Amino acid sequence: MVMTSAVERMILCSIIPVVVLPEAQMAKPLAEALLSGGIDVIEITLRNEAGLAGIEQVARHVPQMLPVAGTVINGQQMRQVADAGAQLVVSPGFSSEVDMAAKAVELPWLPGVATATECMQALGAGRRFCKFFPAIQAGGMAMIKALGGPFPGLAFCPTGGITTENLAGFLALSNVRCAGGSWIAPPELIAARDWAAITGRAAAARAVVKAALNAA
Ligand code: 3PG
Repeated sequence: MVMTSAVERMILCSIIPVVVLPEAQMAKPLAEALLSGGIDVIEITLRNEAGLAGIEQVARHVPQMLPVAGTVINGQQMRQVADAGAQLVVSPGFSSEVDMAAKAVELPWLPGVATATECMQALGAGRRFCKFFPAIQAGGMAMIKALGGPFPGLAFCPTGGITTENLAGFLALSNVRCAGGSWIAPPELIAARDWAAITGRAAAARAVVKAALNAA
């Protein structure tokens, strides 16, 4: 059997819904709604109490879904998400503490970067795949293109201000592998348990990815 790594799965899907769960019990129906729309990656953030238990729910009960932990900002959280079953971890920034904790639990980790200095820090720690955050506010496509000059070995997953409308432009950049954001499963649709609308948004985003791949 050919095994696909968590990073490869993230790149294959090309879109990472970034979610904040009001209740951990919402993780399973939300993950199933995304799967119905063709997305098999979910980044559940630790921005509230429910995040950690939500990761565990997905890891235990939705085997087709890749559970990604987001907003991990210290070493303790890295150990907690590893125990909860996360297969990949994303942070909004870079810290040596989180880098070392990721290496200790042997989970792939995407640090967040927004400047050349942060790219140098990430590369210094052996990190070649980073979240570019907050993408629009930090200079958008022009900034990612510019960072490609001095850092040809660095690939990005932009998040922050990505929408179905600008997704194709980001994915077309040679140093972008995937893009993430809250637009597929925004807080108001999750709060309303509007799983059908979330499936529709996931399918629309996947259609953009397929068109981008065909155009390439
Ligand atoms: C993230 O952490 O990736 C961002 O909060 C997502 O940003 P967005 O809400 O603008 O998509």
